[in-house]
Amino acid sequence: MNPGCKVVVLISGSGSNLQALIDSMGRENNPARIAAVISNRAEAFGLQRASQAGIATRVLDHRQFDGREAFDAALVDLIDGFDPQLVILAGFMRILSSHFVKHYAGRLLNIHPSLLPKFKGLHTHQRVLEAGEREHGCSVHFVTEELDGGPLVLQAIVPVRKDDTPEKLAQRVHTQEHLIYPLAMRWFAEGRLQLGQTGVELDGQPLPANGQQLPN
Ligand code: GRF
Repeated sequence: MNPGCKVVVLISGSGSNLQALIDSMGRENNPARIAAVISNRAEAFGLQRASQAGIATRVLDHRQFDGREAFDAALVDLIDGFDPQLVILAGFMRILSSHFVKHYAGRLLNIHPSLLPKFKGLHTHQRVLEAGEREHGCSVHFVTEELDGGPLVLQAIVPVRKDDTPEKLAQRVHTQEHLIYPLAMRWFAEGRLQLGQTGVELDGQPLPANGQQLPN
């Protein structure tokens, strides 16, 4: 059997993005293989999704550690035990230490519910509505030490409607997240996507600063 590209996914909650990644593995010739799902919360529903799919799960509770550095060091050990080529953050609600981010440089992806660099941080849907934006969306990016600031890989745009609520908008953004994250994982697993010296490259060509746009 082709060993494929081993991936470890980190979660803290519902794991709907994890589910989209799991579902995409069944598609033809996808070399991505999720070797393990790790959560910092034992009650994260995503752990059940992983078990259901026959994927190994681990819980590493940050409250058991004396500070961020100690937790992150243990997390690195746990992740590296699975020897992954790629680590994916899928709703992992932790700020990562510099050591962690450097250790996985060029092989650590995150998804964020906004059109970065706009609306970094939390409560993006509410903030987009308050700002009167006409467009919103989501972004996949390589993780660097700047929070929600790493080089962009893929974005999907969602129009904001007059009658939108944060909940309605979140739902439509989520639908797009579930398209772009599996695509980015697949590109990486196929060896098409990499973080080069000058930025993100797809098939050896530099991507624009805001990444590839998923056509609506
Ligand atoms: C998503 O909105 C993602 O963009 C953000 O965290 C949320 C995770 O949702 N990073 P889920 O757990 O994948 O449903």
